[in-house]
Amino acid sequence: MSVSAATRAITPQGIVARKGGAPLACLTAYTTPMARLVDRHCDLVLVGDSVGMVLHGLPSTLGVTMEMMILHGQAVRRGLDRALMVIDLPFGAYEEGPQQAFRNAARLMAETGAGAVKLEGGAAMVETVGFLTARGIPVMAHLGLTPQAVNVLGGYKVQGRGEDGERIAADAAAIADAGAFALVLEKVPQDLARRITAEIAIPTIGIGASAACDGQILVIDDMLGLFADFQPKFVRRYAELGRDADAAIAAYAADVRAGRFPAPEHAFGDAPAPRSTGSDAG
Ligand code: KIV
Repeated sequence: MSVSAATRAITPQGIVARKGGAPLACLTAYTTPMARLVDRHCDLVLVGDSVGMVLHGLPSTLGVTMEMMILHGQAVRRGLDRALMVIDLPFGAYEEGPQQAFRNAARLMAETGAGAVKLEGGAAMVETVGFLTARGIPVMAHLGLTPQAVNVLGGYKVQGRGEDGERIAADAAAIADAGAFALVLEKVPQDLARRITAEIAIPTIGIGASAACDGQILVIDDMLGLFADFQPKFVRRYAELGRDADAAIAAYAADVRAGRFPAPEHAFGDAPAPRSTGSDAG
């Protein structure tokens, strides 16, 4: 990052200042080229542990390691000038207690240059959020559908319906009081998202949590249409890159097989002699 870029880079304080203002636009990124594109348009880039499912073909985020997060975090950092980079603490890297969380959060920030970490959980994480924040680590929290708890939640279902909404609202207030600078709300009913957004002083960033939130985040590969077989209700596909890539790869393979690629303009040096065919051989 250049000195001038550093001075206009978005900070966690800048994110907090956007509470109730123009909605925050946030996306995930896992690679340098995507980070460059997202940085041009978004306020916050999350190196999400969704990387495990999106890029590594894992069945859930539970198998994501610190090493994977660091590798992708470093790649994303190289693509950013302006947006705030937040990186996920992977499953198993923070739940034992504040000290373990601090060790791994500090490592993620030191080795990737991220400006903040994200962790999942409510009441059980209040002490950890306070501990990290007091020691120089800005924390974005994550409530509602918390994918690292998929085995406890019984699937990737909407959370906070009926009475359970009270629990999530209380968790949101406690996490905000503990010092988190933003809160991701995933797959919660819009009434609950509206209530939490009105009740806490930090921005809520919704994913499947309606326009009531202070900002929105999506997994970049979902909104770019990279997966033909995955279309959650809460995603709008802004492109069909999966379909386009499939057509491009099919056209390439057909061109190679038919001898249409490479063409003379793709070659170096003298034009090659035409390929001999079986019929010339005799
Ligand atoms: O890992 C992730 O991508 C997330 C979402 C909130 C986008 O946590």
